[in-house]
Amino acid sequence: MKFLIFTCVGVVNLLSLGSGKTIYKSDGSRRTFQEIKEEIASYKDVAKEIIDLAVYGKFQNRSYERLALLVDTVGPRMSGTRNLEKAIQIMYRNLQDDGLENVHLEPVRVSHWERGSESAVMLTPRVHRMAILGLGGSIGTPPDGITAGVLVVASFDELQRRASEARGKIVVYNQPYISYAKTVQYRVRGAVEAAKVGALASLIRSVASFSIYSPHTGMQQYQDGVPKIPTACITVEDAEMLSRMASRGNKIVIQLKMEAKNYPGTDSYNTVAEIVGSKYPEQVVLVSGHLDSWDVGQGAIDDGSGAFISWEALSLIKALGLRPKRTLRLVLWTAEEQGALGASQYYQLHKVNISNYSLVMESDSGLFLPTGLQFTGSEKARSIMEEVMSLLQPLNITQVFRGADGADINFWIQAGVPGASLCDDDLYKYFHFHHSHGDTMTAIDPKQMNIAAALWTVVSYVVADMEEMLPRS
Ligand SMILES: *[C@@H]1O[C@H](CO)[C@@H](O)[C@H](O)[C@H]1NC(C)=O
Ligand SMILES: *[C@@H]1O[C@H](CO)[C@@H](O)[C@H](O)[C@H]1NC(C)=O
Ligand SMILES: *[C@@H]1O[C@H](CO)[C@@H](O)[C@H](O)[C@H]1NC(C)=O
Ligand SMILES: *[C@@H]1O[C@H](CO)[C@@H](O)[C@H](O)[C@H]1NC(C)=O
Ligand SMILES: [Zn+2]
Repeated sequence: MKFLIFTCVGVVNLLSLGSGKTIYKSDGSRRTFQEIKEEIASYKDVAKEIIDLAVYGKFQNRSYERLALLVDTVGPRMSGTRNLEKAIQIMYRNLQDDGLENVHLEPVRVSHWERGSESAVMLTPRVHRMAILGLGGSIGTPPDGITAGVLVVASFDELQRRASEARGKIVVYNQPYISYAKTVQYRVRGAVEAAKVGALASLIRSVASFSIYSPHTGMQQYQDGVPKIPTACITVEDAEMLSRMASRGNKIVIQLKMEAKNYPGTDSYNTVAEIVGSKYPEQVVLVSGHLDSWDVGQGAIDDGSGAFISWEALSLIKALGLRPKRTLRLVLWTAEEQGALGASQYYQLHKVNISNYSLVMESDSGLFLPTGLQFTGSEKARSIMEEVMSLLQPLNITQVFRGADGADINFWIQAGVPGASLCDDDLYKYFHFHHSHGDTMTAIDPKQMNIAAALWTVVSYVVADMEEMLPRS
């Protein structure tokens, strides 16, 4: 996941629809909320079957083991690399072997950035080799690197106040972690703001909620008309030390070397599979995660886990011999980390059918114990989703929160399609691992992944099988 994260707050049932009240008309039939409630309640047994199979039964840990096999075999899957294309080909075969329908690849043009080798050494006041990761899209330094004095600031405001000190320096941001959405601004705009005041390079304190000396990479954005300067992240530990040294009046000199390079765009694919609907095959419930990752760790949490519980949803439904009335479409997005490139091109191509998308789902906020579902849509649709989530009572995970989030599904949500994302126990913990070498299978608990897969499957199946599409505003 890239830029935005909403926390799972604001659990409210603002609008309780009284029984007997008509909430929408469709095809000339008037359905009352009571009827819809009863329809959803009739899925109690199938929900129980799904939960038993995924959490306690034959397919316990299946999704975890499938993911481990992929990420151990292929490793991280950065846009533009052979690793990603290899993973796409493996998934293409996996989905076919699983007996899913209409398995195909949809071409996408993606960007290609490589970090190359990189280093940052503090030369003064003592020699200290720092752990760094270049930020996505950054240019490299000259081969001999950039050796310069350091200006440490805690915020963009401080940078403005001390703008006259920045010229010819390496700006180090030691911004505190407030929330991902707020703090990530330093990663995204840090280089541009530093370049505007004449800095030669910029280093940010990693956008992480916890650190054991781990740098956390991610995209950054240059701005037209502002000089491009090399930029990387350093660890929380080093950022704090540099800040302490600066406040003692120490002169700090760093040598930064980066071979980072932007290459021309290349071809990649969104990977698609379906269970075709029995009654309304043109209507779609989309369930998704992104297959690409950063080039460090294994891309297990971000977002192998979201991609694989989405696959598991179709896999479990197929194994149970179920076929929902409308089509369940699995999409494994490519190049999310580079700005949701796969999802953006998918939206442009498929938006002609937007009126037939009932719900778009994405899991891309980590995979720990889910606390519920985040949902964006009309209040009527929210009331329906609350009934659907009540089917998860056997797992005691029934809450519907506000603010569905997923860079890949936001195109649809903004255009009025109801959206859902998985809400984690620990969004805070997600940012211990996010975009770092620590994003590996070790950070995932198979039991929690089973529960997430069961929730994801029940929601996608029931919404795809209900007589009516989710009502829009
Ligand atoms: C699933 O994983 C858990 C935790 O590692 C383990 O205790 C359990 O035995 C595994 N189940 C199966 C069927 O492999
Ligand atoms: C739109 O939906 C129709 C079925 O209703 C389908 O035949 C067509 O391929 C879809 N178009 C796109 C671009 O997805
Ligand atoms: C949406 O699906 C309905 C049938 O379920 C079909 O009649 C209609 O043409 C579809 N709309 C589009 C835009 O494909
Ligand atoms: C069910 O979940 C709620 C919070 O969502 C928690 O307060 C409660 O203790 C849980 N009950 C059980 C039996 O686990
Ligand atoms: Zn992600």
